[in-house]
Amino acid sequence: HAQLARMTTFQLGGVAERLVQPSSIRELAETIALGRRRGWPTRILGHGSNLLLRDRVLPGLTIRLDRRGFGTLRAQGYEVTAGAGVSLSRLIGFCVGRGFHGLEGLVGIPAAVGGALRNNAGGRDVTIAERLSSVTLLNRDGDVVTLPRGELSFGYRSSSFAESVILEAVFRLERGVREEALQRCRDHFQRKRADQPLAERSAGCIFRNPPGDFAGRLVETAGLKGLRIGRAEISPLHGNFIVAHRGARSDDVLRLIDHVRERVANVHGVWLELEIEVW
Ligand code: EPU
Repeated sequence: HAQLARMTTFQLGGVAERLVQPSSIRELAETIALGRRRGWPTRILGHGSNLLLRDRVLPGLTIRLDRRGFGTLRAQGYEVTAGAGVSLSRLIGFCVGRGFHGLEGLVGIPAAVGGALRNNAGGRDVTIAERLSSVTLLNRDGDVVTLPRGELSFGYRSSSFAESVILEAVFRLERGVREEALQRCRDHFQRKRADQPLAERSAGCIFRNPPGDFAGRLVETAGLKGLRIGRAEISPLHGNFIVAHRGARSDDVLRLIDHVRERVANVHGVWLELEIEVW
């Protein structure tokens, strides 16, 4: 039983029944095949930045892709190849250091490349899919395939990867000036830090923005900012963040989510959909 909480940005939740951290594609494929033969529910964990784990033993197989086995990072011309386990901050640092620009808008997102692609992570100005050139996947049949951007589809915090596992991706950047790219990163980070509780334990935005509106605005105008249940709190800074204070339980966050949904539905007539995953 491996502790999973420290593998997520919320740092909440229980243990995994089985945790495997494969160090190669082959080991990953064999692990998935074994899980299928045994009928174990299988989940792929990246950097756990958009995830709430319940206070329980997570049944089945949890496969964590990290830098060790999936940490490729290399440039060829203005194309950068990054493994699924590479953090966005490392990828951005690598690009900016070479004066390549295009990914600066993703600064401050604590995801790994694999998870960021699966959710099409981003901000208002940019999503990760916009710079994508191709993705290499392990598909359901256990084959490694590379698909160009044109064969993939992305939406608002969604993608078409379904049951495939993202192994690595190629991003097409543009030539720029290193100092300018660095300055854009600083500006993005400062703006984000002013609006979002980046230094606290959270999973980023909890709810998807409903069409034509903003979950954070709905939560704020329902008078919920700063509300606490147990040791979980709706961030006074941003209404769409729940922060976990020392001693928080996953259940505190779940109860707060239920409370917010009911209150926002009563006040605004909108049912907020989760943006994070709950395992
Ligand atoms: N707003 C409020 N009260 C709040 C928060 C926001 O009234 O407490 C208002 C703001 O004044 C603004 C609007 O809502 O008019 C939008 O707010 P913000 O610019 O903070 O953006 P967001 O829609 O809340 C989205 C993404 C973030 C991303 C930011 C910045 C979603 C659910 N969230 O937030 O992504 O960082 O844009 O680009 O789409 C995440 O995915 O985890 C995440 C944090």
